[in-house]
Amino acid sequence: MAGSPSEKRGAGRLLAVRDLRVGVGPQEDGFDPVSDASLHADRGEVVGVVGESGSGKSLTLRAIAALLPPGVAVRSGDVDVGDIDVVHADRREVHRLRGGAVGMVFQEPMTALNPTMRIGPQIAEAARAHRKVSRVEAKARAIELLGQMQFTEPERRYRLYPHELSGGMRQRVVIAIALAGDPELLLCDEPTTALDATVTMRVLGLITGLAKELDIGILLVTHDLGVAARVCDRIVVMYAGRVVEEGPAVAILRRPRHAYTLALLQAVPTRESTIEALRAIPGSPPKVGEVPSGCPFVPRCTLAEPACEQPVSLVEIAAGRMSACRRHELLADLVEADDA
Ligand SMILES: Nc1ncnc2c1ncn2[C@@H]1O[C@H](COP(=O)(O)OP(=O)(O)O)[C@@H](O)[C@H]1O
Ligand SMILES: [Mg+2]
Repeated sequence: MAGSPSEKRGAGRLLAVRDLRVGVGPQEDGFDPVSDASLHADRGEVVGVVGESGSGKSLTLRAIAALLPPGVAVRSGDVDVGDIDVVHADRREVHRLRGGAVGMVFQEPMTALNPTMRIGPQIAEAARAHRKVSRVEAKARAIELLGQMQFTEPERRYRLYPHELSGGMRQRVVIAIALAGDPELLLCDEPTTALDATVTMRVLGLITGLAKELDIGILLVTHDLGVAARVCDRIVVMYAGRVVEEGPAVAILRRPRHAYTLALLQAVPTRESTIEALRAIPGSPPKVGEVPSGCPFVPRCTLAEPACEQPVSLVEIAAGRMSACRRHELLADLVEADDA
């Protein structure tokens, strides 16, 4: 029936975040580090979430997984993961969400692993937490996951301790643990920050391969637009707690339609050296709680005009392209002139 919740969500739609606001402290005198985030992810798709440190990427991911830190809460907006209404979920649904629907990979693999326990049993335990399976079945599943994570001789690796592994291997174990619950949506928060360039591309290649192989959706947070452009299908750009631009990765890279995205691209050293830290954009993001009411990028923007001081929202500017930049047409002209 038209308008039924599943129809609105669309067949492949796994995740829909609408007008999300996440706040710290009491509503009256707290602040909202995420003030306006809308994004979605479908099956088989890798969506990059990009932005400087402090832009609200991690809190957005944690809100999706119902894993916000104490004192931090969703103030308004909607988060749907499959058929779960995350913002209004009861305990049973939150359990279903964390134990199955979503898997989460955090930045620092050691914090996600128990240093005193062999890696295989840690994966097996995660599999048992999700499904009622015997110990033998859980062990077989753990070995299968290690193989899927490209460990050679997975039976032997099963018995290793985290400290016996390299950083890249540990992060692959963490991904195996996240996958043990058969999630439909995998949330990865800067999963390769602690890793060197070659290992980063290997781990990211592995993660993105999973989207197609398992037909799951993946949200990949990174502060590196170069990395995102190489491994993601779509990119969502966040600035000062808001989603400011969204579109296909190639289009975002070649034809940015938000002044902030353009600045991010100009800060990437070259398109090939994707691993180097971002060269800084002049100035710094507004402090949380001091975000201007208009476009938050205005104080650092070289294209701003007086109208940019007025509130602006994310709108569809072309098929599949969203931007919250008043100067998006100027940007289109600039890039076209550059191409010519
Ligand atoms: N646990 C917390 N308690 C209070 N404030 C927080 C907490 N986590 C994040 N914040 C605030 O939210 C902002 C955005 O954080 P975060 O989502 O971690 O940004 P990002 O992942 O993009 O670097 C931070 O700059 C900080 O001010
Ligand atoms: Mg973060």
